[in-house]
Amino acid sequence: MEKYIFVLGKNWKLCLGELIHILNMNDFKGKIIDYSACVAIIEFEKEMLKAKQIADLQYILGGTLKIGKVIDFLDQKTFIKAFPYKIEDISKYGVMNDARKQVENLIKDSVYPIFGKLKNEKYFIANSIYPIQYKDPYYKVLIKHFLPFLNENWVKILKEKGARSVIYFKYPEKYMEEGTLNPIFPHHFFKYELYKPNRKEILYATTEEGIYLGYTLNATNPNMVKMVDEERPYKKFEASIPPKFVKIMINLLNLKRPYNTMKVLDPFVGSGTILLFAYSMGIQVYGADSNIECVEGTKKNLNWIKKYLIKPLKIDFNKNVINAKIEELSEKFANIKFHGIVTEPILTPVLKEIPKYEKINKIVQEQVIPTYDQAFKEFKKVLKEGSRISITAPVIETLDGGKISINLNEIALKYGLKSVKIIDKNKITEKSDINLKISGKERVITDRSSIYLHRQFFIFQK
Ligand SMILES: C[S@@+](CC[C@H](N)C(=O)[O-])C[C@H]1O[C@@H](n2cnc3c(N)ncnc32)[C@H](O)[C@@H]1O
Repeated sequence: MEKYIFVLGKNWKLCLGELIHILNMNDFKGKIIDYSACVAIIEFEKEMLKAKQIADLQYILGGTLKIGKVIDFLDQKTFIKAFPYKIEDISKYGVMNDARKQVENLIKDSVYPIFGKLKNEKYFIANSIYPIQYKDPYYKVLIKHFLPFLNENWVKILKEKGARSVIYFKYPEKYMEEGTLNPIFPHHFFKYELYKPNRKEILYATTEEGIYLGYTLNATNPNMVKMVDEERPYKKFEASIPPKFVKIMINLLNLKRPYNTMKVLDPFVGSGTILLFAYSMGIQVYGADSNIECVEGTKKNLNWIKKYLIKPLKIDFNKNVINAKIEELSEKFANIKFHGIVTEPILTPVLKEIPKYEKINKIVQEQVIPTYDQAFKEFKKVLKEGSRISITAPVIETLDGGKISINLNEIALKYGLKSVKIIDKNKITEKSDINLKISGKERVITDRSSIYLHRQFFIFQK
């Protein structure tokens, strides 16, 4: 069965959680057979995925930066012999030549599966190494010794097999020296046309088990995301939710494909970020806000994005996006049962400086918690049985009293909504490294949205 490398974004546990949910879907049934803090190795039930399916997957996933195909694998023991933790060990063991020969053979055997029969043409490669974790000291060894080895051998081998000339992507010397290199960005896949037959990005994904060699098939295209985020006509919030999180939150809903029959609600639309991305994924969107300006702005944004979509769903935004306070939700949407609710209420004031505990706690207790409470009471009424809520809550750092977080689990439980784990530990293999372990309690994952304000992700199910 074919294996794929999914390169994960920065909040890797959240990205992994998203993948686990997507792999439950009929179109993409599969499992994560190995992972690190940078990649997930996935085996699909279908014998082979078509390029269109890979493109679809890349488009809907918020947390996956690149998707590549696995060509070969070398176990950790052999690989470490070729590139020891301490490079001085090479001379001590003296086995280096054997082990390095195996790495060289790995490259040789990958040429045909990646490039086919070579032509008398110019070839371009970019070698991208993914460590188990970026902070891993071994990553420096990989950059300083493995990367030059790869560049040199790929050029040699491709020429031997018939390439007229070969150039490789040169990373800045400075980062190579420091050992702080990042593999090339996803948008370079498009910039350097790495989808062409004679131009490829070769991936080396290291895990506790060994090293997977593959090549990139697709990558996130930041242009569309950037356009939606920056060019939409109505912008209001300094801290509107980043698009990658919007996609992840939508994917955590476990909606059924095709999405065009799915009705999804954001009851606190703000400037409509969530609805914009849900609509461009082909979902029937509904929204509400107590601020009429936000309602009008969101409708303007939705009408604007419609022009860029190939087959936009026909939706009457005037009917679907309404001016309503959270407590009016079930009354205003009386005849609809939603397949999902996705929302980031962030109901705290913009924090320009670190707040005092007493002051912010008063706001949380008197305004924020009661609003979440009202929200969950209404969610219960408007949600279809078995459907989910994907929601964030703020975690606020204070000057003098530590962090304040909101226990959404308690509020949800009050209304009979049960909490769902973001990562189901039974769905992935076990790791020995403490930093990679999944406890199964990761139903709450935090990420920084400003210096003092973080967000926690939650899923609930009716
Ligand atoms: C921070 S915004 C959401 C931002 C949105 N996620 C985005 O990225 O554009 C929160 C919204 O909740 C709305 N809101 C606050 N209290 C509300 C309430 N009680 N009922 C309905 N909407 C409310 C505000 O008007 C504001 O537009």
